Amino acid sequence: MTGSTLMSLVTALMSLWGFPLGQAYMFVDLSHVQNMTTLYWPGVPTFNRTIVAAGTSANGIWIEVGAFSSGEHGGTHIDVPRHFIENGMDLKDFPLERTVAEGVVIDCSAEAERNADYAVTKEKIEQWEEKHGRIPNEAAVLFRFGYAKKFWEPEKYLNTQQLDDATTYHFPSVSLEAVKWLVKSRNLKMIGMDVPSPDPPTDLTYPVHRLVLPLNIMIMENVNIVPSLPPRNFRLHAAPIRIENGTGVQTRIYAMLYERMNDGSPRLSSPLFVSFVVCLSLVSAVVKIISQ
Ligand SMILES: *[C@@H]1O[C@H](CO)[C@@H](O)[C@H](O)[C@H]1NC(C)=O
Ligand SMILES: *[C@@H]1O[C@H](CO)[C@@H](O)[C@H](O)[C@H]1NC(C)=O
Ligand SMILES: *[C@@H]1O[C@H](CO)[C@@H](O)[C@H](O)[C@H]1NC(C)=O
Ligand SMILES: [Zn+2]
Repeated sequence: MTGSTLMSLVTALMSLWGFPLGQAYMFVDLSHVQNMTTLYWPGVPTFNRTIVAAGTSANGIWIEVGAFSSGEHGGTHIDVPRHFIENGMDLKDFPLERTVAEGVVIDCSAEAERNADYAVTKEKIEQWEEKHGRIPNEAAVLFRFGYAKKFWEPEKYLNTQQLDDATTYHFPSVSLEAVKWLVKSRNLKMIGMDVPSPDPPTDLTYPVHRLVLPLNIMIMENVNIVPSLPPRNFRLHAAPIRIENGTGVQTRIYAMLYERMNDGSPRLSSPLFVSFVVCLSLVSAVVKIISQ
């Protein structure tokens, strides 16, 4: 057996074992489109794109260049510490390792359907864990209120007839108590929801923003949490562009669904996998000795 045949055997067996090398993932987009009608908070400049140049160049090549402008907090976007901390950490310095995490979705759509002012409790999260298992440490926790489907109908999304007056808005939120528990007991890394904020629009003290942002916990707002996203077993990505002094920005948020079950522990530490690697090393040593 040559070295390269042995290596292909190792790779083939590794893929059977669920080792992440070359693993197939399914991608789920969790971002709403940015265009002229994308929802922005009143007073924040909305998204605007214009065409700077579009046409066929002298040598027959089509070239188009656009320009866009927008507020930092509109549509599917993230918040970083500087949003609520004077001179706090901006988008330029926000650590890349804080933008990827094991994801879970806590479905609160039944509660939100009954009550537009519903606030997720710690008990609700504990019930979720009883059913789906422990939330991994340093996870991205998404709260699904079933609001993503109403995103393009702002009166329904915000439960108001007065879109220019944010004090009339109603949408579900996450209680400070629940988020405190996630931070303390599960070392929360990222938090997201399919509404404009984790805080209720009536609370102008922004308790959840002020708790998590100083801890470098990213907030993901207006996330398009589609019903097909499973309760767990996916990796969430939300890497923003590096705007100097930026407080938040539209972000392509997406999930990569694992092909096989993953309880959040690194696969390399699985005892089965370790014994498998040890056996293979022995086999390869024996092959080497025989072929000498
Ligand atoms: C913006 O995109 C949404 C979703 O694709 C669409 O419903 C809406 O009509 C678009 N708005 C404009 C101005 O094109
Ligand atoms: C979009 O930007 C262009 C170019 O700056 C401007 O002429 C236009 O009025 C803007 N539209 C909106 C809706 O802000
Ligand atoms: C960021 O803030 C610093 C200090 O106020 C300023 O000098 C710099 O021009 C700002 N950069 C941007 C892109 O706003
Ligand atoms: Zn925001």
